[in-house]
Amino acid sequence: MAHWIEACAVDDVDEEDVIRFDHGGRTFAIFHAPDGRFYATDGLCTHEKVHLADGLVMDHVIECPKHNGRFDYRTGAAKGAPVCVNLATYPVKVEAGTVFIGLD
Ligand code: FES
Repeated sequence: MAHWIEACAVDDVDEEDVIRFDHGGRTFAIFHAPDGRFYATDGLCTHEKVHLADGLVMDHVIECPKHNGRFDYRTGAAKGAPVCVNLATYPVKVEAGTVFIGLD
């Protein structure tokens, strides 16, 4: 069962944007989708470990700032070269204006 961790306030992330969230020696990326939903993935690109929060969000895709690799942040799916390893994703819930991510 997931252990819910407070990540940020809803207002901390504009729609179609991403922020970095660090917890317990790990780093995550928190996304605010155009439909208002929030998503969470590992923060580091699976290609060369650059932080994705420095990248560009377009619709439901995050583009890595280093080599422009792309992932669907809803599923973590890598969208083609140079990235071939999917991102880990985490459950998210929003309560009273706060975004929580679920960790094992
Ligand atoms: S480090 Fe992300 S695509 Fe290369």
